[in-house]
Amino acid sequence: MDFTTFDKRGYRTVDVRAGYGEWVSTYEDTVEDVMDIALLDRLRVPDWAAVRQAADLGCGTGRTGRWLREHGVASIDGVDLTPEMLDVARRRGAHRSLAEADATDTGLPDATYDLVICSLIDEHLGELPPLYREAFRLARPGGLFAVVSFHPHFIMASGMPTHFTSRSGEDLAITTNLHLISDHVAAALGAGWQLAELREGVVGDEWLAVKPQWERYRGHPVSAAYVWRRT
Ligand SMILES: C[S@@+](CC[C@H](N)C(=O)[O-])C[C@H]1O[C@@H](n2cnc3c(N)ncnc32)[C@H](O)[C@@H]1O
Repeated sequence: MDFTTFDKRGYRTVDVRAGYGEWVSTYEDTVEDVMDIALLDRLRVPDWAAVRQAADLGCGTGRTGRWLREHGVASIDGVDLTPEMLDVARRRGAHRSLAEADATDTGLPDATYDLVICSLIDEHLGELPPLYREAFRLARPGGLFAVVSFHPHFIMASGMPTHFTSRSGEDLAITTNLHLISDHVAAALGAGWQLAELREGVVGDEWLAVKPQWERYRGHPVSAAYVWRRT
């Protein structure tokens, strides 16, 4: 679904590499843990400490990787499209390996991972089936795929793309696509996954503590976490 119908900001849009290549210097100061980390904290299905090998697609600066390591995940291979984000992840040291690659064509080995995870990247993908197919290829039988997303309802209601403020002070959007929850379900089932868990994050006190200007969105779903199982 096309985001431009809902766009209330009208920011100039740049592609993923250009956007994150510049946002990297302030990324960790602006991304809120309550968007993704708070949802990971609520998931019940993955037994994180039992995960020996994980693949982290769109690993960025390694925030997700650090959380996984803190929760007992032994070994994580990360891929990302943006070299500058990978440089920060390299310095952080949470991953066993890091490579510049597309999340839909990672070059990682078949049927290897107990857990494949991608956090806050799917709105940048034009379509979801290639992501779900690649994750299915990487997961071992019985393995899990955890997807954390910017909620489509929130993108529509706020009219806000993924965006940042450039060094020159311009607000820039990074290519943003809308994927309904049913798009995730269709792509996942089509690739062979079965749903194991789904949680949604809503704007509440935790959010308003960091974004008081979001009072008008109180109660709106803002993020979602899906856990799929390869049976
Ligand atoms: C919002 S950041 C999330 C990073 C990290 N998962 C986190 O939670 O902080 C999105 C990341 O996805 C990466 N990305 C976007 N599209 C991608 C694609 N098709 N393949 C690989 N990485 C991609 C970007 O380069 C960026 O580092």
